[in-house]
Amino acid sequence: MATVPQPAPVRGDIEWFVHDRFGMFIHWGTYALAARHEWVKNREAIPDEAYQTYFDYFDPDLYDPREWARMAREAGMKYFVITTKHHEGFCLFDSEHTDYKATNTPCKRDLIKPMADAFRAEGLKVGFYYSLIDWHHPHYPIDRIHPMYKRMTPDEVREANKTRDVSIYREYLHNQVRELLTNYGDVAYLFFDFSYPDPDGHGIAGKGREDWASEELVAMMRELQPEILINDRLNLPLDQPDVHTPEQFQPRGWVEKGGRPVFWETCQTFSGSWGYHRDEATWKSPEQLIQMLVNTVSTGGNLLMNVGPTARGTFDYRAKDALKAYGDWLEINGRSVYGCTMSEFEPPDGCRFTQNGNGLYLHVYNWPFRHLHIDGLAGKVAYAQFLHDASEVRFKEHEGAPHSALEEAVEGNVLTLDIPVIKPPVTVPVVELFLK
Ligand code: GLC
Repeated sequence: MATVPQPAPVRGDIEWFVHDRFGMFIHWGTYALAARHEWVKNREAIPDEAYQTYFDYFDPDLYDPREWARMAREAGMKYFVITTKHHEGFCLFDSEHTDYKATNTPCKRDLIKPMADAFRAEGLKVGFYYSLIDWHHPHYPIDRIHPMYKRMTPDEVREANKTRDVSIYREYLHNQVRELLTNYGDVAYLFFDFSYPDPDGHGIAGKGREDWASEELVAMMRELQPEILINDRLNLPLDQPDVHTPEQFQPRGWVEKGGRPVFWETCQTFSGSWGYHRDEATWKSPEQLIQMLVNTVSTGGNLLMNVGPTARGTFDYRAKDALKAYGDWLEINGRSVYGCTMSEFEPPDGCRFTQNGNGLYLHVYNWPFRHLHIDGLAGKVAYAQFLHDASEVRFKEHEGAPHSALEEAVEGNVLTLDIPVIKPPVTVPVVELFLK
């Protein structure tokens, strides 16, 4: 038996977050038209004038946020996080502080307001992603990840930065965060992205907490929305963020920072891009998708799974299939996810445990023949069943005394489940063990 880690208390309201476990990330912006990654402006070092085309043609005529919200709810997601502004600088919301926003494109609308309303109406919590990085703002100093950097010598960068004043950008950032936390109702979560304080090889600075004035920003946010959760990308000391956000990475155990367990959420993509990418083909299988969710909850974290809508305002058919894989599975297995966390028990090989009080959930990744032996559980289980159909799973307990051929094969404090030869028709079958 292991002790389940207990992170130190945080400022924001973490209760709903650790209960809900599963959210939808949405990356949407004018890069959806390029359809070749949300970093396209950087990757191809596209100048503002050329990138403007995507703004001029941004017209998501099929956008129906109620449809998105319904799909998210049906996929079993309990909250969502939308890119109100990504690194390209384009704002999906009607900000007073810029013209570079959806209301000035052919779509002529604030896209965030109806989205927040629609997701709330489906019972999901609202989260905003806001890019600290801004490749459009004229006062954002050029640095190693700025699209123009690749087209300039270090001296040219230094020269160009003389007319860029980061304090003007900082004010813009604070003003926009204030708008987002004032004009759109309850915001449960703010996901900032991201800091990179180290200088490059030429001594050209990156950006971090001083550039953003992170402390002041956080103080303002806690005042505007006291319950809000704030993530870990503001370059603040490790004990400041409410939620830590390892990205595109599956931790093996409970995530720790500075040697202490933290509240955490991993964000992941269905394929290899956050923004809509027409030609990217590494779409994960239903089995991988479900296992990612289970792996995450079994190590005490949340999963924020990303959809990159098209420039028409729709979810791609591949994203819909992936969402359906989650929805179908969670509809019958949700009990092993919501309200669950890491278990105090060690799972057998090829399996994962999640636990919620006396409910212990065994997720079987590799289907063995007839018997599943679990160490340390003899005498502790009152009843066992498959979660998908509540059919009894019979078991035997061994105190180490060999009574039969089966018992001779195992030792100690073992509980052996008697499982069918054929794996049930469920992507990842779950055995629900009712602890005494
Ligand atoms: C990275 C990328 C970005 C994406 C984010 C999601 O920081 O820069 O494109 O939005 O990860 O966490």
